[in-house]
Amino acid sequence: MLVRLLYVSQPVGPITTTVTTSILEKSSIYNKGENITGILCQGSGLWMQVLEGERHQVNVLYSRIMASRNHKNIELLSMEEITHRQFGKWSMALVHLYKDSPMVRIAHPEFDPYTATSKEAMSVLDELIKTSGPIVAKESKN
Ligand SMILES: Cc1cc2nc3c(=O)[nH]c(=O)nc-3n(C[C@H](O)[C@H](O)[C@H](O)COP(=O)(O)O)c2cc1C
Repeated sequence: MLVRLLYVSQPVGPITTTVTTSILEKSSIYNKGENITGILCQGSGLWMQVLEGERHQVNVLYSRIMASRNHKNIELLSMEEITHRQFGKWSMALVHLYKDSPMVRIAHPEFDPYTATSKEAMSVLDELIKTSGPIVAKESKN
């Protein structure tokens, strides 16, 4: 049974290239092995991440991620059963969120993932991918 999980969190300290690279490197190994795909969105003092895969594998990874000391205020926005992966191309891709970017400001003037519906958060992610494309895409295939 496939699921898609979406959460938001706040980095502890600045999001440095080292932190991001480390997450992407680990994801590229671990997520590939567990057949997990998704996207990590960062910027404006936030992380939003989508994880897709078999329910058990997603649960295990989410527990690992929750245990990370790199972030706080981790809030689960949604976990839904799905029939198709939306981010199946990437073991983990990265997009940047700038809450004050014209796209986000105009399309979602009040956007705050802590109060937004998960549908709204997903639609911001979709638009970021469509308008700017993933910055780093770790392919899910070896
Ligand atoms: C925002 C965020 C997203 C992460 N995503 C993944 C992931 O998709 N796959 C993975 O294996 N680990 C992921 N991790 C966990 C990291 O790879 C790493 O295990 C963790 O940050 C180390 O935490 P620690 O320094 O507290 O030990 C993520 C961590 C953070 C903070």
